[in-house]
Amino acid sequence: MKRRQFLKTGGVVAVCACTGSTLSACKMLSGISDTPVAPLASYRASATDVVVDLAKVPTLKTVGGSVKIEINDKKYNPLKLLVVRVGDREYKAFLDKCTHGEREMEYAADKKTLTCVSFGHSRFDDGGKVLDGPAEKPLRLFPVKVANDEIIISV
Ligand code: FES
Repeated sequence: MKRRQFLKTGGVVAVCACTGSTLSACKMLSGISDTPVAPLASYRASATDVVVDLAKVPTLKTVGGSVKIEINDKKYNPLKLLVVRVGDREYKAFLDKCTHGEREMEYAADKKTLTCVSFGHSRFDDGGKVLDGPAEKPLRLFPVKVANDEIIISV
């Protein structure tokens, strides 16, 4: 069991034990994203761009898929992105920080919305606009270009 999975499971069990909640209700309390993280070999970062090799990111092979990318260097400190495939050849890259309290976001393909994993559960449309607070500001979107089998995210 990976650390993240252990923490998630352990946290959920602990909260559920204390409150007597059902597991599905408790999942909403865990505050940890289920979105997969892109393999390190699938992207590279320069001073201005993050380039993602789509062939190496399985979850972006289907419309509605999403993935997390974290660039850890001094310039970005770190830069956390949530990349979503919203169309055949259309991708969006969001700063993976809720504008309420900087928690992680998750994309729901069926609703085309992004939801914060925190207790507040702020919701945004796939343009980053706030649908439900407590967040008041839109999510930050980065320009994305598609070139052959890569996407280029301007950061
Ligand atoms: S951090 Fe997202 S709703 Fe509070």
